[in-house]
Order: sequence, then structure tokens, then C-alpha cells
Amino acid sequence: MGLPPPPAAPVVGAPALQASSVRRAFGSMVAVADASLSLAPGSVTALVGPNGSGKTTLLLMLAGLLAPDAGEVRVHGMTYGQHGPDARRHVGWMPDTFGTWDSLTCLEVLTTFGAAYRVPPEVARERALGLLETVHLAEYTGAPARVLSRGQKQRLGLARALIHAPGVLLLDEPASGLDPRSRVDLRRLVRSLADAGVAVLVSSHVLVELEEMVDDAVFLNRGQTVAGAPAPAVARWRITTLDAAALLAWAATVRLPLTPDPDEPPGSPGAGTFLVHLPDETHAAALLRDTVTAGIPVSRMAPAGGRLEQTYLAMETERR
Ligand SMILES: Nc1ncnc2c1ncn2[C@@H]1O[C@H](COP(=O)(O)OP(=O)(O)OP(=O)(O)O)[C@@H](O)[C@H]1O
Ligand SMILES: [Mg+2]
Repeated sequence: MGLPPPPAAPVVGAPALQASSVRRAFGSMVAVADASLSLAPGSVTALVGPNGSGKTTLLLMLAGLLAPDAGEVRVHGMTYGQHGPDARRHVGWMPDTFGTWDSLTCLEVLTTFGAAYRVPPEVARERALGLLETVHLAEYTGAPARVLSRGQKQRLGLARALIHAPGVLLLDEPASGLDPRSRVDLRRLVRSLADAGVAVLVSSHVLVELEEMVDDAVFLNRGQTVAGAPAPAVARWRITTLDAAALLAWAATVRLPLTPDPDEPPGSPGAGTFLVHLPDETHAAALLRDTVTAGIPVSRMAPAGGRLEQTYLAMETERR
């Protein structure tokens, strides 16, 4: 995709980004109570948590845009306090909504940010043109950024986050407002950046989508990172049959507990979708074989959500 390589890390062997017991309150509201995480170069990490759990506040601190009350953030071993501009130069930040100025063109938005990061003008211009291609906004190069649609603004925000070729990329709900094709492009771009050595942290509520691009996950619950939240040993599967009564009768004979799926609307009369806990794929294959052998018209069987979603739902989390 013609992206420039990330800059060299000043402290060899240090994590690309590390947060240790970071805390931040707004008045009496403790948005981030105690968050710790570490990002390795070349990895994609999910930042997952319910609304109000402190994801955006944490990301702002990781990006050096909000000072923590306690704890420490290090970028390639450098702190924002001691090495502000140097640390910031290594970090790309994409906010959940990207506001732009009325008068600047898309190209100017990118080159202006390039200048702020001390990227030489000709390098910034060339990079900006390449990034506008990457995010499929080349035809808007000379257009005022204010004419962009919401999803197009998000894509410009992504290009802006990359203008200084950062080694750490922080994305706050980057897929929100993007059309399906752009979501696929985003996943591919994130993967290719990681393959080039960039450490990516990405927050999202669309766990199934996140799952396809991440290597690791950090869970936040009421401002607290949840240490090593393990994936549940037992996975949930969803089974749909055209004859719910037949499936339930058979399940009773083999003592298999089935729960009606609350998320699945009833299909044709008599049909039904159920959730079942199975230890592994071997058991899933056996269940499919046995139901079909018993003459039950099974029309669909698949895991009910990925591991990330299952881990999330298994966690004691609270919205606020
Ligand atoms: N500037 C602020 N002033 C006061 N309270 C704030 C401020 N920013 C965030 N908060 C509070 O801190 C908590 C965490 O907010 P934050 O935006 O970090 O959550 P989030 O995990 O990003 O949520 P969402 O999933 O909805 O984006 C919330 O209760 C919010 O009301
Ligand atoms: Mg948020």
C-alpha cells in the first residue's frame, strides 16, 4: 500500500506502548481507575468494554492528549512528561469522531498535521496523496473537508492518524459510520500496518469484526483493566431447526440442555433457534451428526459469537 516504514524506536527492546496503573478522574467521576497494558510492535490489540468504562479517556491518555492523575504512559520507553514531542511523534490517534476545519481541503488537512509533526513538506505531501488513495478519498483531494460524509470524514481521520508514519496507532471506534466495504478495507489496512511493525490498539463495540483483526484483547470494566480475562472453556453454539418440537424431544432423551435463543426471531411456524453449550468442535460435529441421523431438520448450526464476544458476555461488566 506504499506506506512508509515506522520510525526507529528510541529505546531498543521497550514495548511500543506501555501504561502502568494509569488513573484519571473528572471531579468525583473516576473515569479510569487503574489501567495497565502493554503493546508489542507488530501486534493488534482490542480495547473492549461497556459504554462509559473509560476507553476513550484511556486512549486520550495513551495518546498524550490528557494527563493521567497517577500512573505512567511510555511510548518506546519515553514518557510524555519528559519527552513530549518525541513521544508524540511515534503515536497516531484517530478519535471516534473527526472534526475538521471549514476551509481546508482534504490534502491541506493532512499536510497541516504533517507540518505539526515536523514532517518535511514534500514528504508530507507525497504521503498525504498516498494515504488519500489508501482510504479511497483521492477524488476529494482538493475538495473542502467539510463536504465529506460522516464515513468519509472517518476515513480522512484515519489518514490523518498515519501522516507521520507512527509506530503506535490508537483507533477509537474506527469503523463507526463506515460502509461494509470500508470496514473490510480498514481491517486489511490495520493488519498490513501491524505486519509492517506498527503496534495497534483499537476500541470497538463490534466484537465479531474486532475478532477478525486482533491478536490480543484488553478488557476495561469501570475504568479498571481486567487482568487476563480468559476465554470461557465452554463455547456457545446456535442451532436452528425447522421442527423445534422434534429437536426438544430428542434433546430431552439425550439430556442435552437447550435454551431458546432470545436474539433470534421465530422463523417459519414450528421452527426454532436454540443455544447450547459445547466443550469443543468435536462435540459440535457430533451434535450435528446425531440430530441429522435422528431425522431432525437442522437448517443451521454455528458458534454463537466469537471468543471475544463470549469472553465479554461472561465478564461481570456494568454499563454506566
Ligand atoms: N471530560 C469529562 N468530564 C466529565 N466526565 C467525563 C469526561 N470524559 C469522560 N467522562 C466520564 O468518564 C466515564 C468514561 O467515559 P469514556 O468516554 O472514557 O467511556 P467509553 O468507554 O469511551 O464509553 P463509550 O463506549 O460510550 O465510548 C464516563 O462515565 C463519562 O461520563
Ligand atoms: Mg468512547
